Amino acid sequence: MKKKTIVIGVAGGIAAYKALDVVSRLKKKDYDVHVIMTKSACEFVTPLSFQALSQNDVVYDMFEEPKAWEIQHISLAKKADLLLVVPATANIIGKIANGIADDMLSTTIMATKGKVVFAPAMNVNMYDNPIVQNNISKLKNYGYGFIEPASGRLACGDVGKGKLADTELIAEKVHSLMYSNKDLIGKKILITAGPTISKIDPVRYITNHSSGKMGYEIAMEARDRGAEVTLVSGPTSLETPFGINVIKVETNEEMFEAVMNNQMESDIIIKSAAVADYKPKKYSTQKIKKSDDNLNIEFEKDTDILKELGRRKEHQILVGFAAESENLIENALKKIEKKNLDYIIVNDISRKDIGFKSNENEAVLITKSKECIEFGKCSKREMAFKIFECILHE
Ligand code: CTP
Repeated sequence: MKKKTIVIGVAGGIAAYKALDVVSRLKKKDYDVHVIMTKSACEFVTPLSFQALSQNDVVYDMFEEPKAWEIQHISLAKKADLLLVVPATANIIGKIANGIADDMLSTTIMATKGKVVFAPAMNVNMYDNPIVQNNISKLKNYGYGFIEPASGRLACGDVGKGKLADTELIAEKVHSLMYSNKDLIGKKILITAGPTISKIDPVRYITNHSSGKMGYEIAMEARDRGAEVTLVSGPTSLETPFGINVIKVETNEEMFEAVMNNQMESDIIIKSAAVADYKPKKYSTQKIKKSDDNLNIEFEKDTDILKELGRRKEHQILVGFAAESENLIENALKKIEKKNLDYIIVNDISRKDIGFKSNENEAVLITKSKECIEFGKCSKREMAFKIFECILHE
């Protein structure tokens, strides 16, 4: 498949060095990246650095080669599936908002038919200046995209809004915009991820090895396909993904409540969380003190959230996971029946190279008519892609 092209416009601000990281991240996502630098950007970072990272020639001064630039700015403008201006200074924002095209970057922005996104970075007072804000509103009304700057300590020492958004976030947002399978627009998806914990006393609890990665990747895939996503997450060390409504929970009871509050308005529910099946019969409100005897804790059964979802199911497509160490298909089929599911995705948890904590997974998706679709070993993001392909298109 032909690679998609992203043109990165680097304007002259101290955050120009961070644009190097954005180029590197987008390159790793397999885009064809081209860089245009303004003259003042070249004062902060050398074109050579961008050339090395993008593996393409960098365009930086349209007047140096009078014959070439006219062709170049049009050809890059035509090539761009998306043009990202990072960092976007007050100057470049002001120029485009007022129709000024006087260098390579501004002429390319004006000439492209691809989506244009600005990631502003500037001093807080400049950012707050009504002229800048007015220019931003004007551009938004014309359909230009913006990735909001963050608040924090700025290069000049001032504290406030104006810091370039996190480079990982910029790359993820761009990647999300480039996603072509927008087949979940208008759909609401509810996903659970991670473990739950069963509390013993104020300091102790039991839990399991779930990292939450699979559920988070499913949530991000759904978001990128255009869905409105709610992610109910048990405790994980994963970063909160942008553009997803994340509800953080700890216990089975809290997950149950969050899930039930969202069940009826969801179109698809995918339950990848590793929910604790048992909890101590009695929670000790005081720390259990050490004694010379052994400690016995009696556990009682907790709610099977997925089974309850199946019982209350109306129009929703309900997808469960099954963590099995033997008789994979047979056990998974029983769970489809018992929990009234449309699909189940079964993992072999006896394997060390996939599943819990790993970035990779291998699984079988089983439909309620007992059709088995094997997903060979792949990254969890690829698996998330395959899951939606099956649910939506098979
Ligand atoms: N699940 C749930 N609530 C529970 C236990 C499991 O909602 N108390 C959901 C999980 O999110 C998963 C599916 O049920 O989607 C299957 O979980 P799994 O742990 O494989 O199965 P269990 O039903 O707990 O059965 P067993 O542990 O005996 O295999």
